[in-house]
Amino acid sequence: MAKKDLISVVDMKEEWPGLIDLSIKLKKERGKHNAPLKGKTLIMIFEKPSTRTRISFDVAITELGGHALYIDASKLHMGHGETVEDTAKVMSRMAHGIMYRAYDYKVMDKFGEIATIPVISGLDNLEHPCQALADMVTIREKLGSFRGKKMVYLGDGNNVCNSLLYASAIMGLDMVACCPATRMPNAEIMLGAARIADANGSKILASHDPKEACKDADVLYTDTWISMGDETPVEKAVKIFSMYQINSELLSIANPGCIVMHCLPAHRGFEITAEVMDGPQSVVFDQAENRLHAQKAVLYTLLK
Ligand code: CP
Ligand code: NVA
Repeated sequence: MAKKDLISVVDMKEEWPGLIDLSIKLKKERGKHNAPLKGKTLIMIFEKPSTRTRISFDVAITELGGHALYIDASKLHMGHGETVEDTAKVMSRMAHGIMYRAYDYKVMDKFGEIATIPVISGLDNLEHPCQALADMVTIREKLGSFRGKKMVYLGDGNNVCNSLLYASAIMGLDMVACCPATRMPNAEIMLGAARIADANGSKILASHDPKEACKDADVLYTDTWISMGDETPVEKAVKIFSMYQINSELLSIANPGCIVMHCLPAHRGFEITAEVMDGPQSVVFDQAENRLHAQKAVLYTLLK
């Protein structure tokens, strides 16, 4: 059977609903399953820092009976002395899967194309599929279903937003990307997600007006205004994004049971106020925990 990657959410479009169910099942059965990935090694390459992605993948494969190998990309020959292609070929001869956090999605794609073992994105400049999976698990747990529910993403139309657009469209969750005109999500992804949503009877919309967008929202979601590798100065980001901050005023416009989400790391006082981030409607630490269960579902599906 041909190997499969998870570099974009749509790489596993067909499996996505099953991955959500499996994440929830593995969460319920934590500590009870045997070791389905015994003897399997996951290489984890990081070009950027990480707390959640690194720990969740390491704990996930360990609990499934396998082993993770952490590699700081700056300590590899790759990119300075050895090609990406040769690195992918060598790793494919030794391990069973690769988790890669990269700056450039083109390098990520090349890695996936050459490697003969599954390549799972731990984020690049275009997408963060594993985050989107954990987020969908969290929404299912908190709201019960996706159909007829509305998520508003506020702030920078970045990698996290792009993957959420695809994931929402696949699951039939309505999503509004509410971002400044100069920082909208990737146009191709927005269009692709809208097409999937159309076929599903749900909506993918764009807005620049937070107060209008947040009406009837069931989920408010935000992420940092300055992603890793983005050189926008803080003062400029504050000017561009201030009106998109999730605060109690914006939250009061949404539905009463609205949940607040953030992939973390968060910057209190910038994209979200401390009051909301640490308030009763925030589910950010459930999201963080769900990275572990979602990672298990992905690893089990691709490496078993
Ligand atoms: N949300 C997320 O991917 O966090 P890390 O950067 O800590 O991995
Ligand atoms: N958009 C953020 C996500 C961090 C998990 C970044 O790329 O830095």
